[in-house]
Amino acid sequence: MERNNIPIKIRLGKIRLDSPVIPASGVFGYGDELKSLIDYNKIGAIVTKTLTIKEKKGNPQPRIWELENGLLNSIGLQNIGIERFVEKKFPVIKKLKKPIIVSIGGDTEEEILLCLQYISKRIPYGLAGIELNLSCPNIGKNNLISENAKDTYNIVKQARKITSQFLIAKLSPNAGDVGEIGRAAQQAGADALCAFNTFKGLSFDWEKQKVLLGGVSGNAIFPLSSRLVYQLYQNVSIPIIGVGGIHSGITGLLMILCGAYIIGIGTSLMLNPQIPDEIIEEIKKYIKEKNIKKWEEIVGFINDKKRENKLLSDI
Ligand SMILES: Cc1cc2nc3c(=O)[nH]c(=O)nc-3n(C[C@H](O)[C@H](O)[C@H](O)COP(=O)(O)O)c2cc1C
Repeated sequence: MERNNIPIKIRLGKIRLDSPVIPASGVFGYGDELKSLIDYNKIGAIVTKTLTIKEKKGNPQPRIWELENGLLNSIGLQNIGIERFVEKKFPVIKKLKKPIIVSIGGDTEEEILLCLQYISKRIPYGLAGIELNLSCPNIGKNNLISENAKDTYNIVKQARKITSQFLIAKLSPNAGDVGEIGRAAQQAGADALCAFNTFKGLSFDWEKQKVLLGGVSGNAIFPLSSRLVYQLYQNVSIPIIGVGGIHSGITGLLMILCGAYIIGIGTSLMLNPQIPDEIIEEIKKYIKEKNIKKWEEIVGFINDKKRENKLLSDI
C-alpha cells in the first residue's frame, strides 16, 4: 500500500490526538496492558474499560462467546472500581504520555453520577475525556439509559453540572431512533457521542443446552453501526466517535466518511493489533486522492447531510 507523509493530527476538545483511531472501551484493559502488542504511536488515546463506583466481579462464565463473524459478550462490567483505578492504575498510564479517556458506568443512574463525582474530584482536569457508558447491555436491566431520550437527557444534564471536562455519551445501537437520543445528549451538554456499544444478541450453547444473552460486536455489526452513524451524523453537530465492527482499513475509512469524527476499535483490535496502522494508511490514501485539506472535510464526506450543506453554500 502506498505510504505518504500527511500527518493526521486531530483535535478532540482541547486535546490533540496523534491519530483518529482509538481503542473502544473494554478491550484495552486499563490502558497499559497491550503495550507490547500495539504501537501506541498509532492510536490517538488510551480508553479504559468501564469503571464503576465499587469493584465489580462481573457475570458468570461464559462471558465471551465466539460467533461466526464476531463475538457475543456478557462481561457485566467487571472492573477494579474507580478508587483503585485512580490510585493504582492512573499513575501508571499517565506516564505513557497519551491522552486518556476514562469510561465510567454503573447499574443505575445514581451509581454512574457517583462515579463521575469521584473521578471529577480526584482528577479534576487533564483528561482527554470522560465517557459515560449509557449503553451496557449486560447489567441485568432490560432498558438501557440511552434507549430513551428523556433518560439520556436527564443523566447528561446532571453529569454536565458535575464536570467541565470533555464529556462523551456512549450510546446504544438498540434505541428506536438514535438520532433522537443523540440530539437529547447534545442538548443536555455532551461534548461528543460514542456510537455505538454492542447490539443485544443471543447465541446457544448446544452442549449445555443453555441460552446465552449478551452484546454482539465485531465484523458482523459493521453495516448496522455504520448506517446508524450515518443517521446520527444527520441529527447532531457534536463530534461522533464511530465504533462497531470496524475490521479493516476500508471499514475504518468508511465509518469516517459516514460521519464519525474519529473511530474506535474493539473486537478487531484484540485479533489484529496492526489494524490502526492499516486504517491510517487507507485514510491517507483517500485524503491524497480527493485532495482533502482539512480533517473536517473528510468527516461525513459521503453523507447526504454534507452534500446538502455543500449545495447550500454553493448557491
Ligand atoms: C470483551 C468486550 C468488552 C467490552 N467492555 C466494554 C466496556 O467495559 N465499556 C463499554 O463502554 N463498552 C464495552 N464494550 C463494547 C465496545 O467498546 C464496543 O462499543 C463494541 O464492542 C463495538 O465495537 P467492535 O465491534 O469494534 O468491538 C466491550 C466489548 C467487548 C467485545
